[in-house]
Amino acid sequence: MAGSDMMAGPDMMSAAVVTRHGEPPVCRRRPTPTPAGGQVLVRVSAAPITPLDLLCASGSSYLGAPALPYVPGVQGVGTLADGPGVWFPTRAGMAPGDGGLAEYAAVAVADLVPLPDGVDHRLIAALGYSAVAAWCALTMRGELIAGEDVLVLGASGTVGQAAVQLARLVGARRVTAAARSATAAERLRALGADAVVPLRADDDVPGLAARLREAAGGPVDLVLDPLFGVPAAAALRVLRAGGRLVNLGGSAGPTAPFDSATLRGGSLRVLGYTNNELTRQQRAAAVAAIAGHARAGRLTVDHDVRPLDEVTAAWQTQADGSAGARIVITP
Ligand SMILES: NC(=O)c1ccc[n+]([C@@H]2O[C@H](COP(=O)([O-])OP(=O)(O)OC[C@H]3O[C@@H](n4cnc5c(N)ncnc54)[C@H](OP(=O)(O)O)[C@@H]3O)[C@@H](O)[C@H]2O)c1
Repeated sequence: MAGSDMMAGPDMMSAAVVTRHGEPPVCRRRPTPTPAGGQVLVRVSAAPITPLDLLCASGSSYLGAPALPYVPGVQGVGTLADGPGVWFPTRAGMAPGDGGLAEYAAVAVADLVPLPDGVDHRLIAALGYSAVAAWCALTMRGELIAGEDVLVLGASGTVGQAAVQLARLVGARRVTAAARSATAAERLRALGADAVVPLRADDDVPGLAARLREAAGGPVDLVLDPLFGVPAAAALRVLRAGGRLVNLGGSAGPTAPFDSATLRGGSLRVLGYTNNELTRQQRAAAVAAIAGHARAGRLTVDHDVRPLDEVTAAWQTQADGSAGARIVITP
């Protein structure tokens, strides 16, 4: 990346700016960031709006309340002055500083991950940290090996769609998906799921466990769980002895009604996963693996590309659950 720190942006740029906690950002003119020592200026080509961005901007999460105003966006994809494409993380909303939802971002050189030529920047932005989480939760934390059976909960989401495809790429024998939205079933089969189980608001643990087990054709080795709540407790009952459930989110509930007999009876492992624990090297390796699969046409995820000046409305659809696909902003 030699020479890439030579880019000088214009004095002012367009950016999404959060001015009040819990409210969508607005598109504003703002000074282009000046890279500090060890940083470079990245011209952003695409950046997603994710659940983590909304959590940070809410100001009421365990992450603390970010100082206002700030540019949100915990990740992005862009180009350096000398041309190469890069994926980059930011700490926007978790630490002082601005993020990726802008025309330019100042990023630590050590955090940049080079992307293969010709890869679709919008797709990489859509996959981003969600696919990193799916990949690392399956492989590093979940220790998935070829020939094992996998159950993916919340499979219609970005993490879930990525997990279905990545489990296949690792060599899973059978991949079963579970999703709330009825329209997701066909899409998930096309992405590689052998069976799709609808999740319902009135599911109880024994009933859902029976449906999951039937769809999976018996017990499974690994559950990938972004939901927690009843779906996680039901999925736990579908694990074979020594099986693992990796939780990475609580979209269906902050607690789950696990029972001791199921846990100890199968010597099961319930594991937590967070991207925050990844080393820089692990994160870069995961992004590189994801970008390679995406470049080869083996990995995709539904996404909806919107221009930066529509960021307020786009953010709102993510907030009220009506987005339907990962929103990617193009400055
Ligand atoms: N631990 C980590 O490092 C990490 C990294 C990335 C993401 N996450 C977390 O993982 C979760 C999913 O992320 P994502 O990027 O896939 O988000 P997303 O694209 O917004 O998808 C959310 C998924 O959750 C489902 N869902 C929401 N509420 C539900 C409920 N009450 N019951 C059942 N399903 C429900 C949605 O189903 P519908 O399609 O039917 O709405 C969708 O499948 C989030 O909680 C996110 O914060 C964690």
